[in-house]
Amino acid sequence: MIATTALGKEYGARVLFSGVSLQLNAGSRYGLVGANGSGKSTFMRLLAGDEEASEGTVALVKRARVGVLRQDRFLDDGEIILDLAMRGDAVVWNALTEQRRIADSAGQSDAAHAADAAHAAHAAHAADAGRMADLEDQIAAHDGYTLEGRSAEVLQGLGIPTAVHHAPLGTLSGGFKLRVLLAQVLVGGVDILLLDEPTNHLDILTIRWLEKFLADYAGCAVIISHDQRFLDNVTSHTLDVDYGTITLLSGGYSKAMVEKAAVSLRAPRTRSRASAPSSNGSAPRTPRPPRPRAASSRSSASRSRSWRRARAAPRRCASSPSARAAARCWSWPASASRTATTTCWRTCR
Ligand SMILES: Nc1ncnc2c1ncn2[C@@H]1O[C@H](COP(=O)(O)OP(=O)(O)OP(=O)(O)O)[C@@H](O)[C@H]1O
Ligand SMILES: [Mg+2]
Repeated sequence: MIATTALGKEYGARVLFSGVSLQLNAGSRYGLVGANGSGKSTFMRLLAGDEEASEGTVALVKRARVGVLRQDRFLDDGEIILDLAMRGDAVVWNALTEQRRIADSAGQSDAAHAADAAHAAHAAHAADAGRMADLEDQIAAHDGYTLEGRSAEVLQGLGIPTAVHHAPLGTLSGGFKLRVLLAQVLVGGVDILLLDEPTNHLDILTIRWLEKFLADYAGCAVIISHDQRFLDNVTSHTLDVDYGTITLLSGGYSKAMVEKAAVSLRAPRTRSRASAPSSNGSAPRTPRPPRPRAASSRSSASRSRSWRRARAAPRRCASSPSARAAARCWSWPASASRTATTTCWRTCR
C-alpha cells in the first residue's frame, strides 16, 4: 500500500530521520511511536503528501484513497454534524449533493415551464435525467445509500448521540468537535488511514469502540498514539522513530519494545567483538559490566564493593577462552601486550 525508499527529513541542521525504506501493507495496522518531538507527525505528513521529504520517496498504491486525521485541522462551526461526518466519503457526498441540486432545479424549472420557455426546459430535463442516472450508478457502486446510516453509527460510537446529529457543529465542545473530525475520517471507507493521536479527547468507552472499529478495518492504518494499551489492542506492527531512523518491528507496542530491548542488549556484545584489541595495539572501548546477580549469596555491601572495584578495574579477563565462554564472561580477553590482567570481576574470578 505504501512504500518509502531512503526517506529522510531534516529541518535546518536537525535530522529527524534518514534512510527509511519500508513497505506498509493492507490488513496491517502500524503503531508509530517515539519520543515527543522525534518526528512522528512529520513522518505521517510525508506519507499523506502534506510535506516534501528532504530525501527519498513515498509511493502509494495507484488510486488508493487516503483518510488523514491531522493534529491541527478544524471544521466549520456552522455545518450540520451528520453532514460533516458524511463528507468523509467525498465521492458519495459529492454525488448526493449534485443529485439534490438537480432535483431542486428541476422543481424550479417545472414552475418556469408553465410560465414560458417550454422547449428549453424540456431539453434541460432530458440532460438532467441522463446525469441523474449516472449519479445513481455512482452512488450505488459506492454503497452510498447506506452512508447516512453508517455515519450516524460512527458518530454514536464516538459518543455523539443521535439527538444532536442534525445540530450545527458549534453546539459541541472542543473535544467533541474533534470526535466529529475523527468520524469524518472513519466514515470515508478509505484504503489507507493515517491517524495522528486519535485517542486524544476520547473517554475509555469510546477508545474501546475505536479499538473494535480499527480491528475490523481491512486497509492499511498508521496510528500515532501515546496510549500503549490502545496500541497493544489495535496494532499488528510498530514503527519506532529513534536513533535518527524509523524501524519496523513486529507486534503491538509491548511486544515491539521487548524486541527492541533484545536487539539493543545484543548490540553491545556485537560492538565489543568489533572493538576487540586491534592489531595496531590501540585499547578497546571498555564495555559496561553487567550488574551483579540478585540471587548472589554475598551481602549487598560486598556486592556493592565488588561493583565499585569492577567499575574501577581494567576488565581484561585472563581466564581461558573456554572458561570465559562457559561463564558467559563479556570482559575483554587479556592482551599479551598488557600487564594489568585479571580474571573478570563477575563469574571467572
Ligand atoms: N515546519 C517545521 N519547521 C521546523 N521544525 C519543525 C517543523 N515541523 C516540526 N518541526 C520540528 O521537528 C520535530 C519533530 O516534530 P513532530 O511534530 O514531527 O514530532 P512528534 O514526534 O510528532 O512529536 P509529538 O509526540 O510531540 O507530537 C520537532 O522538534 C518540531 O519542533
Ligand atoms: Mg506529533
